[in-house]
Amino acid sequence: MGSMNDLVIPSDAFSHGQIRSKIWLSENFAVWSKKHLSPAKSFELHWYGSWVGIGPLLMLSRNELKFHKLNLFDLNPENLATSLKVLDFWRCESVEITTQTIDVNEHRPQPGPHQIFVNSACEHMAGSSWLKNIPEGAFVLLQSTDMKHHEHINCAENAVDFINKYSPWLTVLESSQIDFNYPDKRFSRFMLFGTKK
Ligand SMILES: C[S@@+](CC[C@H](N)C(=O)[O-])C[C@H]1O[C@@H](n2cnc3c(N)ncnc32)[C@H](O)[C@@H]1O
Repeated sequence: MGSMNDLVIPSDAFSHGQIRSKIWLSENFAVWSKKHLSPAKSFELHWYGSWVGIGPLLMLSRNELKFHKLNLFDLNPENLATSLKVLDFWRCESVEITTQTIDVNEHRPQPGPHQIFVNSACEHMAGSSWLKNIPEGAFVLLQSTDMKHHEHINCAENAVDFINKYSPWLTVLESSQIDFNYPDKRFSRFMLFGTKK
């Protein structure tokens, strides 16, 4: 029997593809942040569709950049409650963590200095209002996939389609692709890093 102190996490969150995608995100962001972001500054990180918090856990753990605040956004309040437990290490390391149960397409972030927005679940998000509403000049890191799945309502067909979908609002600085070949399925994930136009 579980208790109130137990975590409830779908096993897919720990699947090879999910964890590989987030390690890949973290490794690339570590390189790109050294190239484009100042280590002298402290950053505020906003994570759209943060799920159970494993993306931010890995990204912060693999990065030398300083973060003072992490804002998590998800439609599912239980995911956000789990994220706070998964990310408790970073709270103890003086990163202020906030959560908001919201459709990110309805969210209007305030302009501010040194902001980074991550959406590693673009395939789950209808339209692009969530991107249009991000303040000009903020750093943006996006991931999507061509994997067909009933919850993937906005897949990218390929890397070019992914860039075409989001580049009207993004000055693209970096892009990357990773291919997965499992015995039962093949798919790719695409990633973009840039600044909001
Ligand atoms: C299955 S998970 C993420 C998969 C992705 N590979 C990742 O790890 O980032 C998708 C998450 O996005 C959230 N989500 C989907 N649409 C959303 C929206 N419009 N606004 C906020 N959160 C959303 C879901 O509640 C879920 O927690």
